[in-house]
Amino acid sequence: MQSSENRSVLMGQFMYAESVPLSIFGMANTTWTRRHILSLADFTPLEYDTVLQTATSFREVLSRRTKKVPTLQGQVVTNLFFEPSTRTRSSFELAAKRLSADILNFAPGTSSLSKGETILDTAKTYLAMGTDLMVIRHREAGVPQAIAREMDRLGVRVGVLNAGDGQHEHPSQALLDLFTICTLIDPDDPRLALLKDKKIAIVGDILHSRVARSNIWSLTASGAEVHLAGPPTLLPKLFEEFVGRQEAGARDWGLGARKEEEERGKIGERSQEPEFKTQNSELRTQNSLLPRKLFLHWSLEPAIKDADFVMTLRLQKERMTNHLLPSLREYHQQFGITRDRLKLCKPDVKVLHPGPVNRGVEISSDLMDDPQFSLISQQVTSGVAVRMALLYLMCSGKG
Ligand code: NCD
Repeated sequence: MQSSENRSVLMGQFMYAESVPLSIFGMANTTWTRRHILSLADFTPLEYDTVLQTATSFREVLSRRTKKVPTLQGQVVTNLFFEPSTRTRSSFELAAKRLSADILNFAPGTSSLSKGETILDTAKTYLAMGTDLMVIRHREAGVPQAIAREMDRLGVRVGVLNAGDGQHEHPSQALLDLFTICTLIDPDDPRLALLKDKKIAIVGDILHSRVARSNIWSLTASGAEVHLAGPPTLLPKLFEEFVGRQEAGARDWGLGARKEEEERGKIGERSQEPEFKTQNSELRTQNSLLPRKLFLHWSLEPAIKDADFVMTLRLQKERMTNHLLPSLREYHQQFGITRDRLKLCKPDVKVLHPGPVNRGVEISSDLMDDPQFSLISQQVTSGVAVRMALLYLMCSGKG
């Protein structure tokens, strides 16, 4: 629950973000220290809960008649979207506006990129204009990381937020998915622990999906069982090792990192079972020890059987280089989410989709619009509160 102190800050008693300690959100003894949000691979449970709590406060702001607070007045947020986007770009823009930040929107088609300017020079141009935070989307994995490195090399306190890089990650989407699911379970106090032992299926084009990769991190961190399902061409066996391998590369776990590395040695071991495999990587995070539970399926039924949530993904045709599917019709027959198929799940199952949706391909059109099952519009609504939280935390943190 929010304290009245918390509310008063969001209403603008404290005009400048730098003066706002995180303890106002009930997060005693902690401050946000992450300057960039590039991946969820090394997010701690405490960070997830901080985002969920902060987003809850901003959700309350967004329910008021005047949906705006002066929290980031005077700060400049720049949206650098080198790839098309409807909801993510607009959601960040609205979030920045609701926080009273000044927002600059870069559009590649009408920019100097077409005159041969490099991406780093474009970023430095916005830096010279006084940008405090850059939100970056690019079709190539690693571009936000490269810009973040350059900002650090220059010694400037500019945060970089990855809004989707190639097939790599899309942290803000996974965080808004997490917020959507957790607020459904406990609207007043959404927190990571609510998902412990829930069954969550992620279905479809996992191979090309940055949304799936970020969601694997957040949902397995909660203690949920995450079941991936797709045809073998879109769900290669390398995902069996996804959690173990990425964590072996993620070194930023804070205390006890050496011990974790030793433990991770075991994680990479391949199971002898030919089909489904579990990644039980025991990880000591800063404040909990969680087994990450990830399962792979090349058919839909075992993944969605008794599931609490089903997240279906768009077929990313723009990233497919080969003929990976016989036909969209056949894909829908095997992996499309329909009312009939949901009978296999828990009776109160809910369906998520990050959008944009290919109606009638990954999900049947009627189901998509059915509020009894579909959380799709709640995801879009949650996105604004979650992105306000991210912008606020990054601009006011100690990173
Ligand atoms: C996703 C993306 O761009 O990664 N969409 C989004 O951000 N809401 C998923 C997709 O494009 O299919």
